[in-house]
Amino acid sequence: MAQSNLYSRVLGTGSYLPADRVTNQDLADRLAKQGVETSDEWIVARTGIHARHFAAADQTTSDLALFASNNAIEAAGVDPQSIDLIIVATSTPDFVFPSTACLLQNKLGIKNNGAAFDVQAVCSGFAYAVAIADSLIRSGAHRTALIVGAETFSRILDFNDRTTCVLFGDGAGAIVMQASDEPGVLASALHADGSYSDILCTPGNVNGGVVAGSAFLHMDGQAVFKLAVNVLEKVAVEALEKAQLTAEDIDWLIPHQANIRIMQSTCRKLRLPQERMVVTVGEHGNTSAASIPLALDVAVRDGRIKRGQNVLIEGVGGGFTWGASVFRY
Ligand code: ACO
Repeated sequence: MAQSNLYSRVLGTGSYLPADRVTNQDLADRLAKQGVETSDEWIVARTGIHARHFAAADQTTSDLALFASNNAIEAAGVDPQSIDLIIVATSTPDFVFPSTACLLQNKLGIKNNGAAFDVQAVCSGFAYAVAIADSLIRSGAHRTALIVGAETFSRILDFNDRTTCVLFGDGAGAIVMQASDEPGVLASALHADGSYSDILCTPGNVNGGVVAGSAFLHMDGQAVFKLAVNVLEKVAVEALEKAQLTAEDIDWLIPHQANIRIMQSTCRKLRLPQERMVVTVGEHGNTSAASIPLALDVAVRDGRIKRGQNVLIEGVGGGFTWGASVFRY
């Protein structure tokens, strides 16, 4: 049974970006060679993105996750063998199965037979994974969790579709959370509405040895935009109310890094000063489930996020899914 004084606390964060940094101009030059027209000016004005990183041909999602996890484990100062729960949020797994989390457990050399599984909630995946890990830790079922958001979205981009291929990048972010009697995660809220599944999807599957349907990401950008700004405000307010806090109590807002215009709108609606929002979309692009832990790690390592501060994370993405967590760092 859950103990009321048991919390899950973030002990350490880590992240990893693949070496190949591709600026908007680099991408525009590459696309021009295949007759697809775009520009740095268009991408920056509509999205705030200046650059993104792409994984090398031989790098998989679990490879990216491994680097980020090692950084988080080192920052947390825990013995990897004490990690009894691994959750990887991803929509670009290495394989259909086994899960990327099981592959990661093996790459980390963890032999303790703790639980390992993937969460598939697209860009909300990390928010989902934090809420799940918090529940499993507070129930007493698990004690030390490694939670990772890792993606190789470049693999599912159609580089002939300029409306989507300029938006996304690859990367991974990770946190280690552990049971504690000091406050950590204060509240979470998760939601989904499957009736919007077609506005953002990769509608393919493997059938008879080939891909049936499409293996590329499809998106109705304007529909996604409208839904995202609406649910991001609502879920933030819901999580704050559950935590018995107001926006004024939040030191740092870390929204999913999809588009600067969506993020600024959310910040305004919550009446939070823009300086209290962590923004990495300019340098990372949209890395889906990796975007929140990547941004969190950047702001922890550059000293902005300090122990004792309240952090609100919130994600929104395909499904349609959305979710938020408030935690004391
Ligand atoms: N380069 C140059 N021109 C482009 C590009 C491009 N890469 N992409 C589209 N255009 C053109 C279009 O063809 C169109 O031209 P037209 O007027 O001649 O037909 C024009 O630009 C405007 O296109 P819109 O789609 O209306 O542009 P919009 O202002 O809606 O911006 C965008 C598109 C950036 C995708 C926007 O809708 C958006 O941000 N949506 C949210 C999507 C998002 O963030 N998705 C991330 C995944 S979901 C998530 O993570 C929550």
